[in-house]
Amino acid sequence: MNVLPDHGADDPILSVDGVSVWLSGREVLHDVRFRIMPGEFTGLIGSNGAGKTTLFRVILGLQASSTGSVLVGGRPLTRRNPIIGYVPQKVFLDPDMPLRARDVVALGLDGHRLGVPLGWRRRRQAVDAMLDAVDARHFADARVGNLSGGEQQRVLIAHALISRPRLLLLDEPLANLDIRAEGEVVALLARIAREQRIAVLISAHDVNPLLPVLDRLVYVASGKTASGTTAEVIRAEVLSALYGQHVDVLRVHGRILVVAGAEGPSGVTFEETDGAAVGPDIVSLR
Ligand SMILES: Nc1ncnc2c1ncn2[C@@H]1O[C@H](COP(=O)(O)OP(=O)(O)OP(=O)(O)O)[C@@H](O)[C@H]1O
Ligand SMILES: [Mg+2]
Repeated sequence: MNVLPDHGADDPILSVDGVSVWLSGREVLHDVRFRIMPGEFTGLIGSNGAGKTTLFRVILGLQASSTGSVLVGGRPLTRRNPIIGYVPQKVFLDPDMPLRARDVVALGLDGHRLGVPLGWRRRRQAVDAMLDAVDARHFADARVGNLSGGEQQRVLIAHALISRPRLLLLDEPLANLDIRAEGEVVALLARIAREQRIAVLISAHDVNPLLPVLDRLVYVASGKTASGTTAEVIRAEVLSALYGQHVDVLRVHGRILVVAGAEGPSGVTFEETDGAAVGPDIVSLR
């Protein structure tokens, strides 16, 4: 499945330029700016409440920004933009719902497609091809509510991909997955991004599982962002400026550890980026 760009291959598929969002009298996002090129794999990294879902809602045209602009595929925002595929953060799949994995994937065909609907044979072929692409064929006829977290995640990714988006947004798809499932989903997304030249923007609170595949990242803290390659962004100076306090960055056994050195001995705190505290008092820096 190859999707040809309808604007220059050197043009960003997503441009976020100076976006600020105020909610209930509070600035939740401040002057956010970054670009994503076609086929690029980008992490949106930040702790709980940092503003990741709000930023996705802005890109999806579901949340108005107070300032700034967003272009998707070189064009201003529209709701139900066929260029964008979306896997939301919270999807509750009830085990009692009589819906098979393949039905959920097929529903993705109906969301954006205009004009003559596909015949049932073409539909079935498209769904089977998508189930194969995410390695979900063997549980295609199982009730989706009974599938494991990792299996459901693959079905939701297939649902978002079947309409052939050029930008795939995934909001915390690794939450609740064990390390093995996490690695599988990351590898699957990286392969799809590369083979189909789909740009991926994936939010996570921990950068570590994404390190092997990230082209760039956008780090969000307190509504402010820094973007660039991992080496450019996950640096003490950059993160200290973002958090407004001193931050050290350690690299241990190939993992990144963000360390907050606070004021006094009792205030010295450590936190690993996966949330495992290694010191006494925790200041959340993720
Ligand atoms: N409709 C709203 N009205 C007021 N405040 C809101 C609204 N929606 C979100 N917020 C606040 O905006 C901030 C950012 O929320 P958001 O959901 O974007 O964070 P997040 O990075 O996705 O967090 P998480 O990792 O927990 O999903 C939070 O402090 C949240 O309470
Ligand atoms: Mg969120």
